[in-house]
Amino acid sequence: MIQEDYRAAIDVGTTKVVTVIGRERPDGSVEIAGVGVSPCNGLSKGMVRDDAATTQAIKSSIAEASKQAGVSIKSAYVGLSGSHIESSNRWDQVHDNPAESVITQEVLDASMATVHDMASDSGGKLLHVIPRGYALDNRHLVRMPIGMHAREIHAHTHVVKGDEASIERLRAAAESAGIHVADLIVEPIASAEAALTSTERDDGVVLLDIGGGTTDIAVFVGGQIVHSAVLPVGGWQFTNDLVTAFMTSFEEAEEIKCGSGSVTPEVASMREELFINSLADSVEGPIAVTKRELGQLLKERAHELFRLVKGKLATPHLANVPIDRVVLTGGGAKLDGMQALARYVFQGRVRTSGPRPLVGLDEQYQDPAYSAGIGMLIWGLRNLPSGSHLGVSTVNGAEVLGGGNRWYDAFTGWRKRGERSGNETRTGVSV
Ligand SMILES: Nc1ncnc2c1ncn2[C@@H]1O[C@H](COP(=O)(O)OP(=O)(O)OP(=O)(O)O)[C@@H](O)[C@H]1O
Ligand SMILES: [Mg+2]
Repeated sequence: MIQEDYRAAIDVGTTKVVTVIGRERPDGSVEIAGVGVSPCNGLSKGMVRDDAATTQAIKSSIAEASKQAGVSIKSAYVGLSGSHIESSNRWDQVHDNPAESVITQEVLDASMATVHDMASDSGGKLLHVIPRGYALDNRHLVRMPIGMHAREIHAHTHVVKGDEASIERLRAAAESAGIHVADLIVEPIASAEAALTSTERDDGVVLLDIGGGTTDIAVFVGGQIVHSAVLPVGGWQFTNDLVTAFMTSFEEAEEIKCGSGSVTPEVASMREELFINSLADSVEGPIAVTKRELGQLLKERAHELFRLVKGKLATPHLANVPIDRVVLTGGGAKLDGMQALARYVFQGRVRTSGPRPLVGLDEQYQDPAYSAGIGMLIWGLRNLPSGSHLGVSTVNGAEVLGGGNRWYDAFTGWRKRGERSGNETRTGVSV
């Protein structure tokens, strides 16, 4: 086993931290070597609110994953969430030569660096610049223009930004746990990597990762990400509605929600009752609640969540994009009836997904709650510069975040100048 092959991803979620260690095998498949999970109450709505609790949860999840994998980690990809995350699609002129010339990998690298600089100017911390395609001399629209000729190039990109202070707080929590943040990966992109099939991405799909404190949204059309966003609503609000309605403890409400809750109360019998311990002074003994009453409350919250999602999808750049497929993931997607309700609200095909099976991935993690952690490792392995996460404090010797040493590869993302992408034989596809 060559330890240097291994990399780590840390999904710092509102209810749990998941560390995943794995590597890309010579045949291109991903192998998982260790997974560590630690409950976490240091976050609210996807953002760090208690630094010490977050650091502690990161430490324990790393310790568990490292023990399982038999390797120690010093550096990792870290997942970023929170409603401060914003995305946009840009067209930028990136190349203007007096004479027509051949487009090389270096030209594309420099083009992405130009977009990076221009997008950085307008405020917020730049997290991702994902190329969508290129317009050559305002005529051809191509996804992969290497080998073609042009005088002028415009780049079409999906750009994701976040709030500097929230990002720094997460980074500080990871660093206090002894981890160098090799790169930040926004959670919607990570979850999509694990939960979606390539057919879904090609045909057009909305991915919803319904977590504990957030719902991450990623929209793909024609194989490309066209929209990403985070809503500050997740399973916590569902549970909290029960706390308020029945004046019970959060722990009991959580247990009732997961064990007996449903967002399709129509199917529950009016007579089927549960007994809930109320904390109200005026109530003596447990109160009886029908499953239908419980479901009605949860259904209202789920409706509200899907209505907010629809609002987030009502952006001008999705106006002419007919999408009738939705994939649900995240722990919140496990609430009974969510798939049926989503089918009704979005009027399309809906499925619930966890991470696809991978070599070494224990069955218990093929669960919607682990899509972000597993997807983050896969996305990092496929899209970010190679380099060990083990026993090093930097990737490839470069100060990675915000560093000028990395360049954007047209299809594989950031990489170090001079590295081959491994995808250079891809043919151009119209956008
Ligand atoms: N069987 C279940 N039925 C209903 N809800 C469930 C079930 N299992 C888990 N959940 C809910 O899933 C939520 C946690 O999901 P997840 O683990 O994906 O969140 P997270 O990644 O920690 O948070 P976030 O992504 O929002 O930062 C909790 O609100 C929990 O109540
Ligand atoms: Mg999550």
